[in-house]
Amino acid sequence: MKKIIIAIDGYSSCGKSTLAKQLAKKLNYIFVDSGAMYRAITLYFLRNHIDWNKPNEVKKSLPEIHLDFEYIEEGNQSHILLNGENVDALIRDMLVSENVSAVSTIKEVRDFAVAQQQQMGKKKGIVMDGRDIGTTVFPTAALKVFVTADIAVRVGRRYKEMVEKGIIASIEEVQNNLELRDYIDSNREVSPLRKAEDAVVLDNSNLTREEQLQIVLDWATKKIDG
Ligand code: DC
Repeated sequence: MKKIIIAIDGYSSCGKSTLAKQLAKKLNYIFVDSGAMYRAITLYFLRNHIDWNKPNEVKKSLPEIHLDFEYIEEGNQSHILLNGENVDALIRDMLVSENVSAVSTIKEVRDFAVAQQQQMGKKKGIVMDGRDIGTTVFPTAALKVFVTADIAVRVGRRYKEMVEKGIIASIEEVQNNLELRDYIDSNREVSPLRKAEDAVVLDNSNLTREEQLQIVLDWATKKIDG
């Protein structure tokens, strides 16, 4: 069967990763959460006191960062490894969330991440979610989805997710963080978040996970069969 690349972009906390993960499972494709890569790089910079405003420090440290995804069939799980360490939980920390958008404005950081993302897509059969997947990473992807949802819905979802993971933050903090990240992500110079011209918009404010999956699965099946 023909394998395609599926790019899923959109604002923070729109449920992109959940959708991408479910879609990849249904299609038996690889799932890549590109945001997790920017988060892991941010964690590395924070831990090692790298001043990312100094280009020399960034250039020197990037070759020391090795990112891998470990796929575990049971439970449809994938883990991000930073130099061999599973940092799934650590990259969701508020400190990382507060700094990741700034780190991901840096051209060298983006070039570093994008090169690895493009490598992962060489064999197709991949669903990748992020901010610039349909515009920069895979501009010729067969299916591009741009996900949106009301801000109140997004804040509620992210807050619930954080509570479940035992991360302490107020609703206000979560909302401020989402709005600030959306602003920085949409206004940065290199690969800003924007809808690719040929992307289809999915507003999932009033959709269940199952409903949104079914919609995108139909779009994907048409591309694969067509
Ligand atoms: O998807 P996420 O919220 O985990 O992403 C974290 C940050 O990483 C987001 O605020 C912007 C950045 N990012 C990016 O610049 N490009 C991507 N393809 C994915 C994420």
